[in-house]
Amino acid sequence: MTESDPDEFNAFERRGWAENSADAYDRVFGPVTRRFVDELLDAAGVGRGARVLDVATGPGYVAARATARGARAVGVDRSPQMLAMARGAHPDIEFREADAEDLRLPAASFDAAVANFCLLHVGRPEKVVAELARVLVPRGRVALTVWGPPDRARLFGLVPEALRRAGASTPAGIPEGPDFFRFSSDGEFSRLLSSAGLSDVAVQTLEFAHRVPDAEHLWSGMLHGSVRTRALLALQTVDARARIHSELVHLLEPLRVDGGFDIPVSIKLASARKV
Ligand SMILES: C[S@@+](CC[C@H](N)C(=O)[O-])C[C@H]1O[C@@H](n2cnc3c(N)ncnc32)[C@H](O)[C@@H]1O
Repeated sequence: MTESDPDEFNAFERRGWAENSADAYDRVFGPVTRRFVDELLDAAGVGRGARVLDVATGPGYVAARATARGARAVGVDRSPQMLAMARGAHPDIEFREADAEDLRLPAASFDAAVANFCLLHVGRPEKVVAELARVLVPRGRVALTVWGPPDRARLFGLVPEALRRAGASTPAGIPEGPDFFRFSSDGEFSRLLSSAGLSDVAVQTLEFAHRVPDAEHLWSGMLHGSVRTRALLALQTVDARARIHSELVHLLEPLRVDGGFDIPVSIKLASARKV
């Protein structure tokens, strides 16, 4: 496997999030990423009056829920498109453009720092965790989520599997990137937080079945609202893309229920405290 270049990967992700459809993300992935926001905020001890930083806020789901709890939330993201959506939906919340690996916010200025599905989109996850720890006050709490392993987080295992079954190769121009499922191992995820000097590290597994109405709903989300998967699909030949689509339909079949498909989703939620 080629060694991944974090700068190349970050540049690829930056372009991808600027170019994809925030509306497609909000429609197809929002209902999944919003599902355990309360658990994330609980793990970070967010209550009334807490100063909360929501890193990689996207459409602002976590910042909005924290605000509804009476916290003072600031959301940051690197995508102007996501920031526009967040500001449009939540005009009373402060949203800023910032890079999770280099926040440029003062040290010790937040009681809690959270990042919902950020780590898999950065070339240097350890820098993100170090930044979250830096902006926390002593005894402040951090909480982060990633997807669980591909056999449990089927929502994100299906397309790579459809690609393999279709015999499709990775098109040129897509950087290798870090292992997408690396932190779905509790040990790896805990070590990431403890290596940043954080204590009381805990990892929880949260699972549910996500209902999608039909294969086209999922396909359009992957094709328009994601980054790496969108590139993997969009850069295929028309024939290869048709083969991947038909493999996806085939893989979904065993998950059929009345009203659509129930796709297993697994999430890892890690939390810790600054000493
Ligand atoms: C999967 S979305 C998660 C959005 C939101 N937290 C949620 O729960 O749905 C990933 C987000 O990370 C942002 N992002 C990716 N790399 C980033 C970076 N280096 N710094 C800040 N935000 C970044 C993207 O723009 C996108 O909004």
